[in-house]
Amino acid sequence: MKLPLNISGLSLPLPPASPQFIDLYNELRPRPGASTAQQLSTGLCAASASVAPKFFYNALGSKLFEAITGLTEYYPTRTEAGIFEMSHTQMANALVEAGITNPCLIDLGAGNCAKALALIPHLQPRQYVPVDISVDFLKDAAEQVQNSFPALDIVGLGMDFSAGLVLPDAVQNHDRVFFYPGSSLGNFSPDEALQFLQHMADPKQGKARGLLLGIDLVKDTATLEAAYDDALGVTAAFNKNLLLNVNDLLQSDFDVRQWRHVALFNTAQSRIEMHLEAICDLSVRWPGHERRFRAGECIHTENSYKYTLEGMKALLQQAGFRHIQHWADPNHWFAVFWAAV
Ligand code: AVJ
Repeated sequence: MKLPLNISGLSLPLPPASPQFIDLYNELRPRPGASTAQQLSTGLCAASASVAPKFFYNALGSKLFEAITGLTEYYPTRTEAGIFEMSHTQMANALVEAGITNPCLIDLGAGNCAKALALIPHLQPRQYVPVDISVDFLKDAAEQVQNSFPALDIVGLGMDFSAGLVLPDAVQNHDRVFFYPGSSLGNFSPDEALQFLQHMADPKQGKARGLLLGIDLVKDTATLEAAYDDALGVTAAFNKNLLLNVNDLLQSDFDVRQWRHVALFNTAQSRIEMHLEAICDLSVRWPGHERRFRAGECIHTENSYKYTLEGMKALLQQAGFRHIQHWADPNHWFAVFWAAV
């Protein structure tokens, strides 16, 4: 049993055994808010249909993504883990040089929190803030982190930060270190990425602030395309599961059997694109709407931009970060950047 600690009459509560959790995404449950339904409808009815990649991540989507991270073809997760393992001491030193000793570690798109679990012993955060749109999945993961680090102050945040990152008051407002691993920044266009980075460099984020950022690098097309179209078809299932999530949110009647997974590297735009291609002429209905698709017509579901080391460094500088360094694997397939203001 935990008792309050008494120091000369002051009563200090001990950290909770189970993490604090704030769900700012609840408008979607049990039914989506008007804005989400509207956003989905507009994307589906456009001449070139699209659905934003955040809609991959219902509970099953998070599990499928977890499975993707273990695939032979999907090099980013293990390559990044190798970089952290190689260089965590230098990374911890970089924080200290920036005047940050016990950061508030804000884990964007934390998912199963596996990457943070490995990093927490080295960075010694005062507070850990995992953020994810997949609320129930994150709740379980945050509890597991709490089990591993019972004394750590954890504030889980169920939240969609794709349109902007507004953190509640429970998040410590000094020594903020944003942890944005896995190359998820690649889901933004370079313009949007710049805005998002500017927001993290903003003085409103506290005095000392920094960013640990995982970035997938440009490489040969075959390696890139295999990573997004694996032999087992896990990525195909991940892509098609978006339709099941849309069915839930919009009360639509997508039949996943009528769709084919497509992944290609767009060299000119330096991005992997994922699409769902209609196998036959078909129609999809949801309250108040019908959308017909011709065989071969596509729904664009994801962009995953790939950067060069120089390109990312320039973007971070443009965003207002001044102290920038990076670590990469020997093949230069992936890089982790540290950027501080
Ligand atoms: C979570 C956005 C980093 O772009 O590699 C994996 C998502 N999509 N396979 C990526 C994803 C298909 C992933 N990010």
